[in-house]
Amino acid sequence: MEEFLTEKIQDEARQGEAYAPFAGDPNAYKKHFYIESYGCQMNFADSEIVASILHKEGFGATRNVEEADLIFINTCSIREKAEQTVRKRLSDFKKLKRRKKGMLVGVLGCMAERLKAKFLEEEKLVDIVVGPDAYRSLPALVEEAVSGQKAVNVLLSREETYADIAPVRLDSNGVSAFVSIMRGCNNMCAFCVVPFTRGRERSRDAESILAECLDLFENGYKEVTLLGQNVDSYYYQPEANGSKPVTFAELLERVAMISPLLRVRFSTSHPKDITDEVLHTMARHHNICRYIHLPVQSGSTRILQLMNRTYTREWYMAKVNRIRETMPDCGISSDIIAGFCTEEEQDHQDTLDVMAFSKYDMSYMFFYSERPGTLAQKRFKDDVPEEVKKRRLAEIVELQGKLSLASNQNDLGKKFEVLIEGNSKKNEQDWKGRNSQNKMIVFPKNGMDLKAGDYVQVEVTGCTQATLIGKIIE
Ligand code: 5AD
Ligand code: SF4
Repeated sequence: MEEFLTEKIQDEARQGEAYAPFAGDPNAYKKHFYIESYGCQMNFADSEIVASILHKEGFGATRNVEEADLIFINTCSIREKAEQTVRKRLSDFKKLKRRKKGMLVGVLGCMAERLKAKFLEEEKLVDIVVGPDAYRSLPALVEEAVSGQKAVNVLLSREETYADIAPVRLDSNGVSAFVSIMRGCNNMCAFCVVPFTRGRERSRDAESILAECLDLFENGYKEVTLLGQNVDSYYYQPEANGSKPVTFAELLERVAMISPLLRVRFSTSHPKDITDEVLHTMARHHNICRYIHLPVQSGSTRILQLMNRTYTREWYMAKVNRIRETMPDCGISSDIIAGFCTEEEQDHQDTLDVMAFSKYDMSYMFFYSERPGTLAQKRFKDDVPEEVKKRRLAEIVELQGKLSLASNQNDLGKKFEVLIEGNSKKNEQDWKGRNSQNKMIVFPKNGMDLKAGDYVQVEVTGCTQATLIGKIIE
């Protein structure tokens, strides 16, 4: 693993590397699609829905872009840099398109939603534009595009959850999978474009979530991560008369009860919404992982208010205390934004202070990037100079480095149950896997008869800032 996560690398780690997936036997299909995903885990999960829809239309996934009849790019709008990366990729595809007649290029996801038909007009290279709630219309849109029409559907929905579509797992390690439990977000954090690109929050049918998790487990998967922009506000009211609504705590428990051998994770929690009930449910089940991603965004109450996060620094710190009281061994990570509108030196110090208090194991750290259409863009001036934002971010990154190292050093000599995910990237003689706290541990195979998906007890013998090093305990 990286010795140290710079903003760029950790941004990609967080947002997932772009990938060109392969699923199933490509020779089984005459037509092929290539899909590259950017952004959050939700986008990666959506690409698996898209793959399922395209499979039904007779398109197989290919990793070789030259072989593709359809090229899709599932895009992210969260920061300007993410959009720049996508534009660059589109110009790469332009060259390919000139060489291969009939090849179609489609833009999916948040940028499609944000820029809508502009894509077709501005970037003459795009044939299809589809927003996150319109993937069911892909087959019809592909047909329209084949017949030379410009194909767009960026309608957002209040109901769509793709509950009945079984995702086709792309580039999976066969051990862990993402399961989307809700879509959209109602929170309106002032900096965030997500409520505009992904629409209103809606929860997926609990039974369909349970069926998907059970199916994964029966197919050898050992870990599911329940995904939503704000999982704590999951709330599903079954249609049948008299059925009780399902809360996130209940859903979590029901997924955990599929099998003690199935690990359950979730992301993302909002500090204002995570309940004691969720913490107690976690504490009751060994297989619900001891790890909470609890984005603070800023440690200054004044900035939090401008960000519309609806909690104060004291409220946040009380939540951290509550987690530590309920589960002393729980890992906590965060998202932090440096240089939000009007941020002063004291606000920045408050952020460093909350970081030190929370002792984050890990954080995803960004400098503020103004996004068109957001509340912050409409209400406030993006007035912190870029060099100040970058200097503050560097200080945040430096502090997080120290906190991560201290957290890892604190694990020296401890024993953890580790789920093996596969070979270590650096050395085929080593396994890599995670403990419940979501820390990556690398350890020698020692000639033992183990495989990806097995659980082993590992003792920590060393560490870097990013990784634990260990040995199997016989
Ligand atoms: N600028 C910088 N970071 C942002 N994030 C969201 N919007 C912005 C923005 N405009 C960060 C937040 C969020 C994470 C997914 O991305 O920290 O939690
Ligand atoms: Fe954006 Fe806030 Fe919703 Fe997260 S909770 S997606 S930061 S609006």
